[in-house]
Amino acid sequence: MRIAVTGSIATDHLMSFPGRFADQLVADQLHTVSLSFLVDTLDVRRGGVGPNICFGMGVLGLRPILVGAAGEDFADYRAWLDRHGVDTASVRISEVQHTARFVCTTDADHNQIASFYTGAMSEARQIELQPVAERVGGLDLVLISADDPEAMVRHTEECRSRGIAFAADPSQQLARMDGEDIRLLIGGAEYLFTNEYEAALIETKTGWTADQILAKVGTRVTTLGAQGVRIDREGEEPVVVGCPEEDQKADPTGVGDAFRAGFLSGLSWNLSLERAAQVGCMLATLVIETVGTQEYELRRGHFMERFAKAYGHDAAGEIAAHLP
Ligand SMILES: Nc1ncnc2c1ncn2[C@@H]1O[C@H](COP(=O)(O)OP(=O)(O)OP(=O)(O)O)[C@@H](O)[C@H]1O
Ligand SMILES: [Mg+2]
Repeated sequence: MRIAVTGSIATDHLMSFPGRFADQLVADQLHTVSLSFLVDTLDVRRGGVGPNICFGMGVLGLRPILVGAAGEDFADYRAWLDRHGVDTASVRISEVQHTARFVCTTDADHNQIASFYTGAMSEARQIELQPVAERVGGLDLVLISADDPEAMVRHTEECRSRGIAFAADPSQQLARMDGEDIRLLIGGAEYLFTNEYEAALIETKTGWTADQILAKVGTRVTTLGAQGVRIDREGEEPVVVGCPEEDQKADPTGVGDAFRAGFLSGLSWNLSLERAAQVGCMLATLVIETVGTQEYELRRGHFMERFAKAYGHDAAGEIAAHLP
């Protein structure tokens, strides 16, 4: 199964300031505020939903095709993704803009001052999927994840007009899209991925009920945080899958992306929806246990053991042949 993942490509620059922002702000001088914080630490992390999802599929032994836009500074990041099995040949490199960047300083009270530079991501709207499909010999599924909003609409329309199966994963971008655009993104999708909050947001913004949405998408996958995930299909009983026990909670960032990576891998291995969701939850647990979204390692024996503990030996037997 050839799967392309479209989505944001970004790096996160995270700094920590040992004092309190509030102590540096002079109330009657705010109109001329000009501050520089001497920070103790800088973490530069690979991010963006597109690479996060592709990385997870890559470590599970698939060869996902990343589709998105980055800057000239993408070379190191590309090498990292290439090493982890991701096909990066369809990433568009901007001639003028840097890769999207999230820059955030956190103070001792966990208050944050942050900026998000969109940069090259805005050029994702110029990407056409047809050449990607031709290069790889056809696409079986395109996952359309959070990205430049115009790019998301364009990719969806292209999939629909060319008859390419697509999965809608609008997540963060739901906040800034209106009902009409959201209807465009999800109508006719093979899969719709959201968390519970986003599921409600879609219903409010589109005015569609849960049943109406189910009639418009093949399969609706709703992640429930620590409760796992629920999968709904029209006329069928919902499938609910719980989470494996985690060894520690280090950092929840990227759990949603890892779930998608595992779930799509399971589908491409021809597993049932339930089994695919279990693979997704297991991968999400590895992300929770590590700081960062692409810092976990997949060790086969360890993965199999934990999977069997959470979901039983028969379930583990079904994934054994596929795990690298
Ligand atoms: N506290 C938790 N304990 C165990 N597993 C979790 C926990 N939170 C999330 N997960 C796993 O991650 C999956 C996705 O989580 P969640 O529903 O929180 O996604 P999300 O809100 O989209 O997250 P993100 O912040 O990555 O966007 C869940 O289905 C589950 O497998
Ligand atoms: Mg999410």
